[in-house]
Amino acid sequence: MSSGRGQLILIEGLDRTGKSTQASILLDKFSKSKLLKFPDRSTKIGSIINEYLTNKSFTLPDQSAHLLFSANRWELNNEIIDLLNDGYFIVLDRYIYSGIAYSLAKFEYAKLNKEGNITSTVDKQIGDVNWLIGPDVGLPKPDLTLFLTIDLQELANRKGWGDERYELQEFQTIVKKSFLSIFELQKDDDTIEIVDVNNKDIPEVTELIWNLITKKGIHQLTNKPIEKVLN
Ligand code: TMP
Ligand code: MG
Repeated sequence: MSSGRGQLILIEGLDRTGKSTQASILLDKFSKSKLLKFPDRSTKIGSIINEYLTNKSFTLPDQSAHLLFSANRWELNNEIIDLLNDGYFIVLDRYIYSGIAYSLAKFEYAKLNKEGNITSTVDKQIGDVNWLIGPDVGLPKPDLTLFLTIDLQELANRKGWGDERYELQEFQTIVKKSFLSIFELQKDDDTIEIVDVNNKDIPEVTELIWNLITKKGIHQLTNKPIEKVLN
C-alpha cells in the first residue's frame, strides 16, 4: 500500500470559464478528496467578503479588500495542511493567483476612470505584485495550478454574467491580462499549466486536465513536503 500525503490542485480562471464544473468532476476521480472554494463565504471573514461582492454600496479601500481575501485563505490554512497529511486530494476553486490578478486588474481599471463601483482607489500598492503577494507568503503552495483560459469573445457568448462586483466584460478583459502577466513572471515554475478551453466541451476539458495531472504524477500520494508560497 502506498503512503504519503495527498496533493493540492488549484483550478484558476476568469469568471464563467468552467472552473467549478471541472473542479467537481475532478473530485470524483479520487477516493479521498475535498473541494475548497475561495472566497469561502461561510467563514467570518468570508461573510464580509460576500457583503463586499454583492453590495456595491459597501465600500472598502482596495488594500483592505485584498487583505480580506488573503485572510480568508489563512482561515483554512490548518485545515488544508491537515487534510493533505491525512491523504486527501484537495481541489481548490480559486486561490492565490485570483487574489493577485483581480487586485492588479483594479489598478489598471481605475486608470481608465470608469464608473461602476469596481474599485475605490488607484494607490500604488494595488499595482505592485510584490505587495499583493505579501500576505499570501507562507500559505501552502499548490502542487499543480491549472489556469483555464478562454477568448473573451467566447466568454461573452456564454450565458449572462451575474451582477456581483467584478462581473463586467470590460473588467474581465483586464483580469485576463493580469493573470497572463503573473504567469509570465512565473514561467519557470513547472507547477503552473495554462489550459486553453476555447471551443472545447466539458469532457474535452476534463480529459486535458486529467492528462496533465497523471503525466505529472499529481494523482498519487507523495512524500514531498508541502511547499509554501514564496515571494
Ligand atoms: P467566485 O465567483 O469564484 O465566488 O469569486 C468571487 C469573486 O472574487 C470573483 O470575481 C473573483 C474574486 N476574487 C478576488 O478578487 N480575490 C481573491 O483572492 C479571490 C479568491 C477571488
Ligand atoms: Mg463568480
